[in-house]
Amino acid sequence: MERILITGALGQLGHEFIKYFNNKDIFVLATDIKDPPKNLPCLFEFADVLNKERIDLLVKKYKINTVYHLVAVLSANGEKNPYNSWKVNMESFQNIIEISVNNKIKKVFWPSSIAVFGTESNLDFVSQNPAMNPETIYGVSKLAGEKLANYYFNRFELDIRSLRYPGIISIDTLPGGGTTDYIIEMLNSAKNKSDYTCFLNKETRLPMMYIDDAIEAAIKLMSVDRKKLTISSSYNVTGFSITPFELANEIKSRGIDITVDYKPDFRQEIANSWPKDIDDSISNKDWGWSCNFSLKKTLDKVFN
Ligand code: SER
Repeated sequence: MERILITGALGQLGHEFIKYFNNKDIFVLATDIKDPPKNLPCLFEFADVLNKERIDLLVKKYKINTVYHLVAVLSANGEKNPYNSWKVNMESFQNIIEISVNNKIKKVFWPSSIAVFGTESNLDFVSQNPAMNPETIYGVSKLAGEKLANYYFNRFELDIRSLRYPGIISIDTLPGGGTTDYIIEMLNSAKNKSDYTCFLNKETRLPMMYIDDAIEAAIKLMSVDRKKLTISSSYNVTGFSITPFELANEIKSRGIDITVDYKPDFRQEIANSWPKDIDDSISNKDWGWSCNFSLKKTLDKVFN
């Protein structure tokens, strides 16, 4: 039986993984440093992943064999406090890796991000392994994490699997402190019929993915025979690419009359260093990835 520990379980991805695992024959322990909602459908323990002893104890106590390590300070928040961002993103991952090796954890899922790329990565269509010089502390920590994953797989055969997520679109659970968050903010404004001021300029093209695809991709990657995986850092994946202006027009074409203003702030520079589109053909070849949710299907879900 799979016995899963989810760290950062009350964040955007965590909530959705908990929903996905619910009612399956899987034991789930959720951990976070916030109080859980009353209706959380799995066991919860308050735990800070920077406290290695506490996590080690929980892994032993609940006989955990699989970890979804989702703790992260995202790109925009990270720039406000790079020291803390590195600490949370990297020390927590190092702790999870060490605990996993020592407790013979079978598999670890750890999300990487499009933030690992930079302006030298041929941003119009980013391949799996271009030049990578990330320009945010978030991207730097994610790229370092990818190298760490690769190292621990080669040296200790620790089975860490990872995806470079684009912006993830979920309506029920919000992200927080990311650069791709604008898309969720604009969609929620449209749902509430209120106007929206976008913090990116109207031409900023970024790759996005509907939450169901994000979960499905992780589950698929985690269930495939490791021998099929040719990459032990992190796989490119994407759904579709869009600009704020195109999104505003799509919303209007659905009969929702919102006014969108554009007031780019510091997040514009971050977005300028990220891919416009992603080549995820190696994911397709290695483990059969293809996205289900086009822009249209995503908006159908959002506005159903
Ligand atoms: N969604 C993340 C962010 O904007 C990117 O991985 O920071």
